[in-house]
Amino acid sequence: MVKIRSYNGQVDRFGVEDLERRCEVGPAENVFLYTDTMGDPICRIRNSPVYNMLVAELNNEIVGVIQGTIKVVTLHKPPKNAAKVGYMLGLRVSPLHRRKRIGSKLVRHMEDWFISNEVDYAYMATEKDNEASVKLFVNKFGYVKFRNPTILIHPAASNPSSFRSPPGIEIMKLKVEQAEFLYRKVMSSMDFFPHDIDNILTNKLSLGTWVAYWRGESSTGEFGRDGKVPNSWAMMSVWDSGEIFKLRVGQATLNCFLYGKMSRLMRKGFSCFKAPSMPEFFEPFGLFFVYGIFREGPSSRKLVRTLCKFVHNLATASKDNYSSSCNKVVVTEIGCCDKLKLDIPHWKLLSCPEDLWCIKALKNDEDIEAFLEFTKNPQNRGLFVDPREV
Ligand SMILES: CC(C)(COP(=O)(O)OP(=O)(O)OC[C@H]1O[C@@H](n2cnc3c(N)ncnc32)[C@H](O)[C@@H]1OP(=O)(O)O)[C@@H](O)C(=O)NCCC(=O)NCCS
Repeated sequence: MVKIRSYNGQVDRFGVEDLERRCEVGPAENVFLYTDTMGDPICRIRNSPVYNMLVAELNNEIVGVIQGTIKVVTLHKPPKNAAKVGYMLGLRVSPLHRRKRIGSKLVRHMEDWFISNEVDYAYMATEKDNEASVKLFVNKFGYVKFRNPTILIHPAASNPSSFRSPPGIEIMKLKVEQAEFLYRKVMSSMDFFPHDIDNILTNKLSLGTWVAYWRGESSTGEFGRDGKVPNSWAMMSVWDSGEIFKLRVGQATLNCFLYGKMSRLMRKGFSCFKAPSMPEFFEPFGLFFVYGIFREGPSSRKLVRTLCKFVHNLATASKDNYSSSCNKVVVTEIGCCDKLKLDIPHWKLLSCPEDLWCIKALKNDEDIEAFLEFTKNPQNRGLFVDPREV
């Protein structure tokens, strides 16, 4: 009889790591993506305000796992503009025990945990061609497909070069308070904007927030003060996921530990792994996640491109605490219709044009018609992708 219970790091760590290794995911033949959580299987959710990991146990063996996080975000779903949301991720069932309702049990228990924490909506992300996952969530659990964000990826260069802003452009690192002020001013109306943005900005994985503007339009320390910003400006922040997990592409029929967004975008790129100019994906590599990309003003497109170059250079130049390698990719995820895509350098072959997000209302008093209306037409609104969910 399968038992679902909370993860206990002291006794379950090896069982979960072993499950992940045995968990064959992905359609790509002979090429697999491994995630090394560096001894902490719960590392991806640890930075969220409320989190939980459940395991499915059968005869003292871990045969399934799921993770979940809870937070309050902006969500333009009348009558309110805010909601408590639960994010489900990392669902895995051992290949030997599939189609025995273990995945369903894990999802059900995670939903129950969300409900006991008064969550309004549960959501999850997957590849749109992951049939098992889409059927489980959409057909069986009634999740509704509602967003198709785009994942953009760019490998960091293998050799650092000294970065120089183009003439006339200033780049400045903001203090956390300045960044928080600007985030709340210009991004708080985006769907999924986390109300605890301060927790993200002060987290040790957040390397900083940078703005770019045209020389003479602002001065250091003044930026954003009293709500004043230059006519044209751009902003982005960087999160160093490489400090908590590493990815590596492997060959041969091995199993893998393949996590969320990276798996979805890396599979897209399998076809070009043999290209000589590709970075060393067969060695462990980290990722910089760029979040909170914003631009405003008539000449801000060039500012975004300049900030992106600056971040690529930062990724190339940074060493991590675990190895001397600076092998990295720079990743971001934005709404599918976001025009920013045009100004964010990315490798098309590695990028994933359509991630699939699905959502479900958990409260009994939900007006189902209004909910379906909300899921139908949200693409024109901005979408905030939380770096803690990479
Ligand atoms: C997706 C996954 C967790 C499903 O686990 P599972 O225990 O086999 O799922 P269940 O037995 O509870 O299946 C529930 C329903 O999901 C659907 N489903 C599950 N596996 C499926 C498959 N391979 N093909 C088509 N539908 C499938 C079916 O509708 C199924 O109901 P049914 O058996 O009555 O037809 C498992 O296949 C897995 O670990 N896959 C690799 C990791 C992954 O892709 N995770 C999802 C990331 S979001």
